[in-house]
Amino acid sequence: MNAKQAAGYRAAEWVEDGMIVGLGTGSTAYYAIEKIGQRVAQGLKIKAIATSNASEELAKKYNIPLIRAAEVEHLDLAIDGADEVDANMALTKGGGGALLREKLVAINSERFIVIADHSKMVPHLGNFKLPIEIVPFCYEWAFGQLQRIYNVPIEMRTRDGELYITDNGNYIADASFGVISDPGKLSHELKAMTGVVEHGLFVDIAHTVVVGYEDGRTEVI
Ligand code: 5RP
Repeated sequence: MNAKQAAGYRAAEWVEDGMIVGLGTGSTAYYAIEKIGQRVAQGLKIKAIATSNASEELAKKYNIPLIRAAEVEHLDLAIDGADEVDANMALTKGGGGALLREKLVAINSERFIVIADHSKMVPHLGNFKLPIEIVPFCYEWAFGQLQRIYNVPIEMRTRDGELYITDNGNYIADASFGVISDPGKLSHELKAMTGVVEHGLFVDIAHTVVVGYEDGRTEVI
């Protein structure tokens, strides 16, 4: 058992019969989906919404019944990883590029459980580059505005030499803010910028954090 597996498996214990569950994205969420899949094979009855095409494929592999978001008004529970978790349970997410769907699912869930190996716990957000999802149309304008306003290193995310395209057909700019002293303020500022679709700051959204350790221990915050 590794730290990510410990956190993912532990969080999967919160899932109960009849729940609508949001499935996160990434290598930690992978373990939560795996464990939920094992429980479904043993008779657990749930429906789920995946936050990325990759997690949807994984859910299908484990025969977890999937529904479209429009079929329900809200979810009972969402379980997802994070790139950083600060002392107030504010998060940086989107390292895997799924931040928009992840935030939509998280804010529409009764309970949002973050699963993280202990290395993700930080005093302040900002060491991890903050993903900012922007529309492809004239993306250079939003990118340039971000550079001008914040004057921090920002780069367009690429994959195989091409601009990275999210599951929603958008681009991502990754910004190195250093220490983010007021995540709430930055969150509102970014959200107000035309051309920015969403960003990876999750402030006042997480209800519970499950921290995993290499020896298989978990801590619930
Ligand atoms: C994907 C995410 C992931 O939850 C985040 O990047 C953590 O990933 P991992 O569990 O692989 O470390 O936000 O968009």
